[in-house]
Amino acid sequence: MAEASGAIEIAGSVAVVTGGASGIGKGIVGALLDQGANVVIADIEESVLAATVVELSTRGDVVGVRTDVSDFDSVDALADEVYDRHGACHLLFNNAGVTSGGGGKPWEQESNDWRWCFGVNVFGVGHGVSAFVPRMIEGGHPGQIVNTSSGDGGFAPVPRASVYASSKAAISCFTEALHHTLVEEGTDLRASVFYPSGGLMPTGLFTAARNRPEELARVRGGTGRSSMSFEQLKEKIEQTGRDVRVVDLDELGRFVVDCVSRRQYIIARDIDDTVELLHRRADAIGRMDVPPHHQLGF
Ligand SMILES: NC(=O)c1ccc[n+]([C@@H]2O[C@H](COP(=O)([O-])OP(=O)(O)OC[C@H]3O[C@@H](n4cnc5c(N)ncnc54)[C@H](O)[C@@H]3O)[C@@H](O)[C@H]2O)c1
Repeated sequence: MAEASGAIEIAGSVAVVTGGASGIGKGIVGALLDQGANVVIADIEESVLAATVVELSTRGDVVGVRTDVSDFDSVDALADEVYDRHGACHLLFNNAGVTSGGGGKPWEQESNDWRWCFGVNVFGVGHGVSAFVPRMIEGGHPGQIVNTSSGDGGFAPVPRASVYASSKAAISCFTEALHHTLVEEGTDLRASVFYPSGGLMPTGLFTAARNRPEELARVRGGTGRSSMSFEQLKEKIEQTGRDVRVVDLDELGRFVVDCVSRRQYIIARDIDDTVELLHRRADAIGRMDVPPHHQLGF
């Protein structure tokens, strides 16, 4: 089994960030550019992608490729384009993600909620790995594959976000399997699993339905909690008298890139409460009991 190189050189590397046109991914793209990486943003939202590329191009070499991660051919074409342009990919961020749009009770989720959410969140990550990792292995350079999970599902479910939580549990599990296999195969590639954390994130996830394909629309209507914008959600929490800590997405991006350069497996901030929850979950499982779940508290 080969030892991985100690650190990843960000300057001069080639990085692909799916879902990098906005939100958390955009913060990662900015941080990569500031450290001298050449970045390819792969996103489905064409106008936002174009605007982001223009905005961030003052900070370095960045291009956008319109990609639907739920479609393998689209991701494979992205990989072709990246290799034609740069001849390599060192850092792959499988970050694009959506909610299920179903919200509410697990038994009220429709087939299309499952299809859309798993298509982007689970198949999207699988497609990224299938299209890029064989080429990254072949290239022989040190590299890192970073899959975005969520504390919701990756650590414990929020029961009323059952489909989304299940998709993120899949990502945490898949990333671990990927990491072990990359090590066993003697590659200098490693995987990381990223849990966005540290407060409420001002991103477009709450309005993810803007990118939902018509053919996967809900049949019974309604979009659940995901129809609430970030501002509406923030206001709702503040009405309960609690302070809302809003995450600075540029700072989060810098944190992620620093962790990636150190090849850290778990990328997360402020997870003391989660660690305590995980201990209680392990104890409950040891007693053959139902593990405690995440509490959103609003
Ligand atoms: N915001 C949070 O609170 C939070 C918490 C934990 C995990 N996450 C995860 O972080 C990641 C980024 O989400 P965000 O919060 O920045 O939301 P966001 O909506 O701001 O960003 C998601 C990006 O993915 C793109 N996208 C959607 N469907 C796509 C598809 N089929 N193909 C390619 N691109 C697609 C969108 O256009 C958007 O640019 C997601 O995986 C999400 O599940 C977010």
